Amino acid sequence: FAFTPANLAWAEGQITKYPEGRQASAIIPLLWRAQEQEGWLTRSAIEAVADMLEMAYIRALEVASFYFMFQLQPVGSIAHIQVCGTTSCMICGAEDLIAVCKDKIANKAHEVSADGKFSWEEVECLGSCTNAPMAQIGKDYYEDLTAESFGRLIDELTEGKVPTPGPQNGRYAAEPLSGLT
Ligand code: FES
Repeated sequence: FAFTPANLAWAEGQITKYPEGRQASAIIPLLWRAQEQEGWLTRSAIEAVADMLEMAYIRALEVASFYFMFQLQPVGSIAHIQVCGTTSCMICGAEDLIAVCKDKIANKAHEVSADGKFSWEEVECLGSCTNAPMAQIGKDYYEDLTAESFGRLIDELTEGKVPTPGPQNGRYAAEPLSGLT
């Protein structure tokens, strides 16, 4: 693995934000940029980031394996889908969404679909509990999902469309409360 020249310049800029001896603090942005470049974090990419930050590989791997924003195996070319399975989403139908993933993508989490386009996993709370159940697709949140609307989203993505993120039933939870403005 090697950063592209543009990404290398960006990564070096990140490192200079931290005092001498604290360069390891740049680990998350550098891992993120490596993942954006490659689609997922190969061992070679984690090693390259660890070398840049003068860290042991195992310390970089500890960070990469702790956060589910980092993917340590190949992902679908269109999207890696993360379905929240924590309490609010579980109560409101996360299992139905996972059944859609098993049906449309692959039977097991982290497997890439036969056409190479999608992968999926169940993750912990993504902080959007008021709009449960929800899933993160790429960098976007899709909320207030049903098995039908979620399946439709995957179909649209397969066709090259970009579905509108947010609540899929038109509900917005963040409307200002009357009397507070
Ligand atoms: Fe699913 Fe919080 S429980 S977003």
